[in-house]
Amino acid sequence: MEDSEGAWRTALYGPQGFFTRGSIPADHFRTAPLIGPELAEALLVLLDRVDAGLGRPPRLDFVDVGAGGGELAAAVRALAGGPLAERLHVTAVDVGPPRALPGVAWVRELPATVHGLLVGHEWLDAIPCPLVVGPHDDPWLARWWPLGPGRHAEVGSTRDRAWADAVGRVRGAALAVDYGHRKEDRVAGRYPEGTFAAYRDGRRVPPVFDGSCDLTAHVALDACADAAGGDWVLVSQRDALAALLPPPHPDASRPTRTRSAGMAWLDAAARASRVAELRAVDGLGSFGWLLHGVGVPVSDLLPPLPPWRP
Ligand SMILES: C[S@@+](CC[C@H](N)C(=O)[O-])C[C@H]1O[C@@H](n2cnc3c(N)ncnc32)[C@H](O)[C@@H]1O
Repeated sequence: MEDSEGAWRTALYGPQGFFTRGSIPADHFRTAPLIGPELAEALLVLLDRVDAGLGRPPRLDFVDVGAGGGELAAAVRALAGGPLAERLHVTAVDVGPPRALPGVAWVRELPATVHGLLVGHEWLDAIPCPLVVGPHDDPWLARWWPLGPGRHAEVGSTRDRAWADAVGRVRGAALAVDYGHRKEDRVAGRYPEGTFAAYRDGRRVPPVFDGSCDLTAHVALDACADAAGGDWVLVSQRDALAALLPPPHPDASRPTRTRSAGMAWLDAAARASRVAELRAVDGLGSFGWLLHGVGVPVSDLLPPLPPWRP
């Protein structure tokens, strides 16, 4: 397709673009921040470790890039407690219309420097790429997605550059959370049609480039990791959440008779089911967590976990 990246960019970010007009995931699909507070809770545990690694500085940033409706930034702000709450600056970055969220600064462009934790939650998949059909001569494809004749792919160099630029602004840690694939999956021919897709009103639809639908493609997170470099790990959301969130209430499986115990049981059961949705093997649990430590070793942020296998 001729200048497919340009057409994709205009469809999402042009004057009548899907995101320019203010579409947010909550209107069209369910992302992890919409499920409940548990993702924000896990990120606050991570943020506390980043804070410790930075020596608990007077100002600590939490920056949500590609914030959409700002739900994640708002939840982090609302849940932050103790001495951290006063030092914490929460910023949502999005090119869409700003939203008024208590205690959250809303900006269109990434801050020049981030001292703390930067998170791109389902941000990179919304960055347009060239869509190509093999054989196709391109250095990124040659290295990351060798293409046989008639096979489709998305050239991930635009995401690599965006991620390297974001990580380059950070002291502390940067985390990309997204659906994606690894070189071994691509080389094995797991995506003969590529992964480019369109969604509207919660349904997959045939892609049109008129701003009426979200256009997205899986993220080559291994290529992003390599482009940003440094100290990083790539693990599954399923494993990362198990490492960061306290286990469900021990009595969640045994209801009791008193009203308050019954309510506690209900709360624990609801929480367990939200965590299960975030960790589902064939769902959000298979998202990749690409975590870079910058000035803070990644090994101080997460315990050793198996490598990501989407
Ligand atoms: C798929 S949505 C994810 C929203 C939210 N993080 C969530 O998970 O619910 C991607 C968002 O990234 C934003 N975005 C894409 N490129 C951007 C950029 N360069 N700077 C700021 N925001 C961007 C879009 O406007 C859109 O709101």
